[in-house]
Amino acid sequence: MEKKEAPKSALDALVSLCKRRGFIFQSSEIYGGFAGFWDYGPLGCEMKRNIKESWWRFTVRDREDVEGLDASIIMHPAIWKASGHLDTFSDPMSMCKGNCRKLMRADQIWDVFEESTLRETLAGMLGEAGKIATWCKGKGKSAAPGLYTVQHPEYLEKIFEQLKTITDVKELFILLATPEGETNVLPCPNCGGVMTEPRPFNLMFKTIVGPVEDPSNVAYLRPETAQAIFAEFANVMVASRQMPPFGIGQIGKSFRNEVTPRNYIFRSREFEQMEVEFFIKPDEAVELLCGHVAPLTDETDLSEPQADWGWECWHKYWVEQRKQWLVKNGLPEDSFVEYWQKPDELAHYARACVDIEYRFPFGVQELEGIAARSDFDLSRHQEHSGKSMEVFDEPLKLAVKKLSDEEKAAFRAKTVAEWEARGKTAEAANAFLDRLFEGRYIPHVIEPSAGVDRMALAMLCNAYEEQKLVDEKGKEDIRTVLHLAPAIAPVKVGVFPLVKNKPELYALARDIFKKLQRRYNCFWDESGAIGRRYRRQDEIGTPFCVTVDFDTLEKDGTVTLRDRDTMQQERISVDDLIRRLDDLILG
Ligand code: GLY
Repeated sequence: MEKKEAPKSALDALVSLCKRRGFIFQSSEIYGGFAGFWDYGPLGCEMKRNIKESWWRFTVRDREDVEGLDASIIMHPAIWKASGHLDTFSDPMSMCKGNCRKLMRADQIWDVFEESTLRETLAGMLGEAGKIATWCKGKGKSAAPGLYTVQHPEYLEKIFEQLKTITDVKELFILLATPEGETNVLPCPNCGGVMTEPRPFNLMFKTIVGPVEDPSNVAYLRPETAQAIFAEFANVMVASRQMPPFGIGQIGKSFRNEVTPRNYIFRSREFEQMEVEFFIKPDEAVELLCGHVAPLTDETDLSEPQADWGWECWHKYWVEQRKQWLVKNGLPEDSFVEYWQKPDELAHYARACVDIEYRFPFGVQELEGIAARSDFDLSRHQEHSGKSMEVFDEPLKLAVKKLSDEEKAAFRAKTVAEWEARGKTAEAANAFLDRLFEGRYIPHVIEPSAGVDRMALAMLCNAYEEQKLVDEKGKEDIRTVLHLAPAIAPVKVGVFPLVKNKPELYALARDIFKKLQRRYNCFWDESGAIGRRYRRQDEIGTPFCVTVDFDTLEKDGTVTLRDRDTMQQERISVDDLIRRLDDLILG
């Protein structure tokens, strides 16, 4: 069954919980906040660490073919020239020429309109020309003072018949905003004025390195972690004695001067990424080494990498790996959508890109992307730095040596034809083949790239539930609970002494708490009724609670272990408790 998007109000409830319980605060709140920046409180920073830790373990530490990197945020500005960010990493910006002078991302104008009360008002008058005219001369003056028909109500007569026939609210808005004699302007969703033609605005934050404020000292806060990986590719490969296929993973902050940061922590100006650049042999090298490239079919077993995989199998493999990680960390498969970008949506160098999209309360939006980026990035850095990004592959050289001249010529002819079919020149193909026949190539790249903050938001949205409970007496109650995966939950175990005033019981509970605290983040709570203590933990997603009660001391030494989701309790001996919790939490 298709899972429906959560209602928008669910986000409001979650935002309020996150502030109240210390997950996420608005940055610089005491000074009125700072748009696009967020602070993670005591629980939020634990949760974020858990997401990163789980990613790092799954993607880097548990694999022999991925190495880690922690590069600097500010790098040589030439990196951003080579990567294309200096020239093309921009959003189209428009400014309202009307009343409000608002700057907006041109590609988001219709999204803003969709969410506006102005849209609602116009939608309620569709086809009713008289009503529209009255509105323009009355309430429209305050609701949309920049609208042409508000400023020039005499024009309404000329378009009166047209107003009767329009059934689309966007079309109506454009008509009301378009000055006489002009066509199809882009209207401002804020005041109804006319927006300027979009102009590119670079999203990189600039800074000055050194004491002199000179253009030659301009540097940038990185807009992605990926480029540092490319810049350090050769160092990491040599130092770790890896050869393609192998990857480099990095987690770190990135910065984008988003024009309209929106949707809570989904699109912010400072955020964290978890990226792998996985370097693979070009398909031509695989073919020379293995005699073929494994075709990707529905039957291809993608559980373990194989020597004969080309980029298509590697790309699909990483899509599957990422999905496995999402499911393992509590996002059910029906909560996200796998969107394969269409050929006309792909960047010119990309061969494929899959967006894993999550059904957020504000719409289905990208959670992470897995792109097959060809040899574009390393080639650009080779070109701009003058440093070789080639790999020397001895087995490849030996495989080529075994070929006869005829076989080499046939391979060359086939490859040139394939390259030309992909829009590349025979000259480029031949230059590539000359190097390949010597065992040298620039690796191709598969890039799984995820955002920590949007991952946290997706996990929180997915986990949030307001459960209606009815007790034995028929009394209704609402239980707010975060069904976070144990690995992601900020607090793993709540430990409670049933009462405070029984020193022996209190000391035993404290002892258990200290023991558990050494293994995972625990919370000690001795105040209030036990039911309220459970609820406080449910609300922050604590998967397990341990209560030390009179039976612990006086009967069998067992404590109660309570499960957040089922609310069931079982008695368990203190000795078994740690083993059991390790199984449940660490898996
Ligand atoms: N490196 C891909 C991205 O930042 O979106």
